[in-house]
Amino acid sequence: MISTELNAKPFFICIYISFLLFLGHYCSSQKTCPSCGSIEVPYPLSTHPNCGDPGYSLRCDSQSQKLYFEALNGSSYLVTRIMASFQRMVVQPSPWLPGKCVTQDMLVSEGLWLNQTLPFNITSSNTIFLFNCSPRLLVSPLNCTPTSLCHHYLESSGHIEAKRALQCASGPDPCCTFIAGGMPSAYKIRLHSSGCKAFRSILHLDPEKPADEWEEGLEIQWAPPPELVCQSQLDCSGASKCSPSGANSLSRCLCNKGYNWDPVLGKCLRKKKNTRASVIIKVIVGVISIFTLALATAAITFRKSWKNSNQAKLMKAREDMLKSNNSGKPAKIFRLKEVKKATNDFSRDRLLGSGGFGEVYKGEFPDGAVVAVKSAKVGNIKSTQQVLNEVGILSQVNHKNLVRLLGCCVEAEQPLIIYEYISNGTLHDHLQGKYSTFLDWKTRLKIALQTAEALAYLHSAAYTPIYHRDVKSTNILLDDDFNAKVSDFGLSRLASPGLSHVSTCAQGTLGYMDPEYYRNYQLTDKSDVYSYGVVLLELLTSQRAIDFSRDQDDVNLAIYVSQRASDGAIIEVVDQRLLGKEPSVNILKSFKLFSDLAFACLREKKVDRPGMKEVVQDIQSIIQTMDQETVAKEVSVEII
Ligand SMILES: *[C@@H]1O[C@H](CO)[C@@H](O)[C@H](O)[C@H]1NC(C)=O
Ligand SMILES: *[C@@H]1O[C@H](CO)[C@@H](O)[C@H](O)[C@H]1NC(C)=O
Ligand SMILES: *[C@@H]1O[C@H](CO)[C@@H](O)[C@H](O)[C@H]1NC(C)=O
Repeated sequence: MISTELNAKPFFICIYISFLLFLGHYCSSQKTCPSCGSIEVPYPLSTHPNCGDPGYSLRCDSQSQKLYFEALNGSSYLVTRIMASFQRMVVQPSPWLPGKCVTQDMLVSEGLWLNQTLPFNITSSNTIFLFNCSPRLLVSPLNCTPTSLCHHYLESSGHIEAKRALQCASGPDPCCTFIAGGMPSAYKIRLHSSGCKAFRSILHLDPEKPADEWEEGLEIQWAPPPELVCQSQLDCSGASKCSPSGANSLSRCLCNKGYNWDPVLGKCLRKKKNTRASVIIKVIVGVISIFTLALATAAITFRKSWKNSNQAKLMKAREDMLKSNNSGKPAKIFRLKEVKKATNDFSRDRLLGSGGFGEVYKGEFPDGAVVAVKSAKVGNIKSTQQVLNEVGILSQVNHKNLVRLLGCCVEAEQPLIIYEYISNGTLHDHLQGKYSTFLDWKTRLKIALQTAEALAYLHSAAYTPIYHRDVKSTNILLDDDFNAKVSDFGLSRLASPGLSHVSTCAQGTLGYMDPEYYRNYQLTDKSDVYSYGVVLLELLTSQRAIDFSRDQDDVNLAIYVSQRASDGAIIEVVDQRLLGKEPSVNILKSFKLFSDLAFACLREKKVDRPGMKEVVQDIQSIIQTMDQETVAKEVSVEII
C-alpha cells in the first residue's frame, strides 16, 4: 500500500507539471515575447518560436541582452527603438572598420539585404548617405555633388572623426545622398568594392536643422501581422476559429463570419454597419459632387463658345507658321473630318501610344492608306509649338530611315500630324521582349547602322544641320523587315548655319542625355551621338537606359555597362541570348568593337566623341567582320 501511494504521488505531480507546461505552451503561442534587456518586444515581433509571430523573428542576444535585426548573408543590426503602434523600428547601421571609411557589413554581406519574402522593408523616412564611392557615381542619378547633404553630415554632424570624414569623401571619391524606399532600395542598400563602401542613414531629415541634431538610424517597417497563431481552439477568442492557414502549415485564429481581423489591435472586430454619421457624410459628399458637376458643365460650355470665336484666328496663325517654317514642298493639309473618320473618331482601340507631348493613333483612309496620327496635348502651347516645329522640319527631310511626314491638320483644337505608319512597333518594346520575335545580333547591327545613317543624314546631308535631341529606343520604329525608322522630331530645332551650338533649355530623356548638354545647356550634333551611344548599349544588353530595379549605383545603363567593361566583364552584361551556345571568335570580337564604339560615343567630352559619319563607317566594318564569319562558315561547310 505504502509503496503504491509513494509511487502514485510522483506520477500525479508529473501529470500536473506536464499539464502546466502544456497550458503554458498553448498560451505562449499567442503571447507577446518578454523584453530583451531594456527593450520591449511587442507582438508580432518574435525572439523565440514560442512567442510573437514566427514570421517576425528578431534575435535577443542572451549575453548582452541586446536585440538584433538579422539581414541576409550574415549581417545583423542593433535595434535601438521600436514604435509598435506604427509597426516600425529603428536599427543602427553597421559599425566602422577601424581607421577606414568602410563598414563591417560591406565585408560580410556587401551592405544591407533584406529577405523579400519576410514582412520587413526599409521605409522612405530614411535619407541614406553613401560614402567612399567610386568616381563613376558622379554621373549617376544620385546626388553626389559637393553640395550634397552627405558632405554636410561628414563635416558637421559630429558623428564622424575628421580623419575618417576625409576618407569618406575625398577628391575624386564622392559621397552621395538618396532617399530610401521603393524598389529596390526598400530591400537593400548595396555596398561593394567598385561602388560605395559605407552608408549611414538619417530619420526624417530636415535640412534646415543643424546637422548635429539629425537623428541617426535606419527605420524598418513591418507588415501588419496576420491572425494569431494557434494550436487548438483554446488559443482563440470566441469570435474566431483555429484553422490551418497559408504557408508553413501553421494554424491561425481566423475570424468568424461578420468579424474582421484588426492587425493593429490584434483581434477580431465586428464588421461596421452604416452609422448615422456615415450616412450624413455620404449625403454631403453627394450634394457637393452634384454641385461641382453642374459648375464644370457650365464652365465647359462657356469655354467652348469662347473657343469657337478664337478657332478661326488660331487656325490661320498656325497655317501661316507652317508655311513660313517650310522652305521645301508643303506638307499636305488634311481636313479634320477625314482624320476623324480615319481614326474612328480617335477611338481608344486605335491608340498606338502616348508620349511626352501627346497621343498617337492609327488611321486608315478610304483609299487604303494606313497612317499614324499624332496629336498634341490640349491647351499646351509648348506642345503645339513642338508639333509645328516637327512638321516644319520633317517635311524638308527625306531619308529611307526617317519616318516620313505626310501632312498635318490644323483645324482641330489640337494640331494633328500625319505620318506614314510603321507597322512593327518600337525598338524599345522589341528589346524588352514585348514581341515574340527575338532580335538577333545581325538585325541589331542593321538597326544600329540604319539609325546612324539617318542621324548622319540629319546632321550633315540636310540643307541645314538638324539635331534630333531625343534619340532613344522608343523613338526608333521598326518595319516588317526590321528596318529602322527614326521618329519623333518633336524636340528638334533647326540650327542656323555657322553656329556651333544652339543654346536652349535642357530637354530630352533621362538616361540618354549628354552630360555636357546637361551642364551647359549646349546642344550639338555630339549630344545626339551620346544618346545614340546609349541606344547601342541597349542593343548590346537588352536592358533599359534607366532602370531603378538595378542597384542604386547601376541605375544608369551607361555607367553600369562601362563599369562592367572596366572590370573586364563586358561579356557578362551582353544579352546572353546573343551569345548562343558557342559564340565564335568573330562574334565575340564584334561585341568588343561594338561596345568600344558605344563608349566612344559616350565620352565625357563632346570633342572626344566621333561624328555620326564615322560611326556609320565603324558599324559597317563591324558588319563586315560578321560577314567574313559567314563566308568562313560557308567555306568550311563546302570543305566538309
Ligand atoms: C546576399 O543574399 C542574397 C540572397 O540570398 C544573394 O542574392 C546575394 O548575392 C548575397 N550577397 C552577397 C554579397 O553574398
Ligand atoms: C527568406 O525567408 C523565407 C521565409 O522565412 C525562407 O524560407 C527563405 O529561406 C529566406 N531566404 C533566404 C535567402 O534566407
Ligand atoms: C513595405 O512594407 C509596407 C508594409 O507592409 C508596404 O505597404 C509597402 O508596400 C512595402 N514597400 C515595398 C516597396 O515593398
